[in-house]
Amino acid sequence: MKILKATPGGGQKLYIETYGCQMNVGDTEIIVSIMQKEGYLYTTNIDEADIILVNTCSIRDNAEQRIWGRLKEFQRYKRAKRSLIVGIVGCMAERLKEQLLEREPIVDIVAGPDSYRDMPKLVAAAQVGGKGINVALSQDETYGDIRPVRLDSNGVSAFVSIMRGCINMCAYCVVPYTRGIERSRDPQTILREVKEVFDAGYREVTLLGQNVNSYRWKNEQGEVVVDFPKLMEMVAEVSPLLRVRFATSHPKDLSDRLIEVMAGHNNICKAIHLPAQSGSTRMLQLMNRKYTREWYLGRIAAIRAAMPDCAITTDLIAGFCTETLDDHADTMSLMREVGYESAFMFKFSLRPNTYAARHLTDDVSEEEKTRRLTEIINLQNELSIASNRRDVGKVFEVLIEGYSKRSNEQLCGRTSQNKMVVFDAAPDLKAGDYATVRITDCSSATLFGTLV
Ligand code: SAH
Ligand code: SF4
Ligand code: F3S
Repeated sequence: MKILKATPGGGQKLYIETYGCQMNVGDTEIIVSIMQKEGYLYTTNIDEADIILVNTCSIRDNAEQRIWGRLKEFQRYKRAKRSLIVGIVGCMAERLKEQLLEREPIVDIVAGPDSYRDMPKLVAAAQVGGKGINVALSQDETYGDIRPVRLDSNGVSAFVSIMRGCINMCAYCVVPYTRGIERSRDPQTILREVKEVFDAGYREVTLLGQNVNSYRWKNEQGEVVVDFPKLMEMVAEVSPLLRVRFATSHPKDLSDRLIEVMAGHNNICKAIHLPAQSGSTRMLQLMNRKYTREWYLGRIAAIRAAMPDCAITTDLIAGFCTETLDDHADTMSLMREVGYESAFMFKFSLRPNTYAARHLTDDVSEEEKTRRLTEIINLQNELSIASNRRDVGKVFEVLIEGYSKRSNEQLCGRTSQNKMVVFDAAPDLKAGDYATVRITDCSSATLFGTLV
């Protein structure tokens, strides 16, 4: 205890709730790492917390509503412990800034995604009765030197952030405003982190970024010395026993070279998450996605030609500004044409200050958005089941993640295509091992198999 008392944290307990995307999950691990260095202790028990942080998401209105609701619930913890500090961090902190302090008096700290090195100072300011606020965005912060504390991990798969921010300015999206400009992390720090997780027993890394395949590391002369395909190669060469994945890629940067590198390495997983957003070229142009339906389908054809077994997944938005029934039908036909393995599907939510909010009209009724989204979801369910059925009879290499949710007599793990497989356990197999499994049956979400 004496050592802890010597640091500002002094053994105080920090509790963090994380909402939103994988980038936020990674950021929470960075915050914990920074705070632990200052002597704060991480806890998963909110009742014993001295500091509660909420790492927030702004992507759709309902994401923010959920957090407002959660803040109301925190009032009782504050009543029970007057010294409790409550902080809002992440995208909603960046978007709303001081408004958060004004609207919700229990909030003591507001910290944007580029200010986490400042967290100990912000907490200290709040503890002497002030408000801690830092929403400055940075051109170069990547937290490259910080070793994230891996929370909630299965010990087999780890996420490694390789870039931050976004400059694409899709008309519907808040991310460029909440996370700032696109920047890439030093490849040497990425490789070091990947080697460390491999040595710690992990067998899969997912390289993360808002547009992961736009990664480019430049030297002092401004020349690109490591691009995304090169980085993938470097990471894949850490060990043939290490699987490599990446998310999320933007179709505009899905290069032939990347496809070639993926096809050329067994340990690069045959799965690409390639958000289409819409199947209508008119919508894609209005969304500022920088590709057409035909161009997108051309990328799919190139992937299929080089890697016939590659799984393709996507994100889709229903009911964007001025979307007609024809545009919607184009999205449905794109889905059929690609035959996505799975998809994240959303109703369009107009976000303040985006291009859509400033220049377009959100004219598809809520009811109609729901109807279109339901059609999309139903179609995707059919496509997912059809894709799983095609796997029955095939043999896959499965990286074991642990026991299945239902029983300790069954193991579960993923195929290279990122599908979950459940099969009977064998005494010599454990999490982190590879198993060869023949698929015998499936549901809409899971494959079932037996060891070969
Ligand atoms: N950078 C990634 C993911 C960004 S957010 C990419 O571009 O692919 C994840 C998904 O949320 C997006 O792909 C999009 O489908 C969805 N999304 C973003 N803004 C939205 C909005 N205003 N309304 C509904 N869905 C949205
Ligand atoms: Fe948002 Fe588009 Fe950037 Fe993705 S690429 S984060 S959807 S602006
Ligand atoms: Fe949400 Fe921010 Fe991620 S808005 S989706 S947490 S980048």
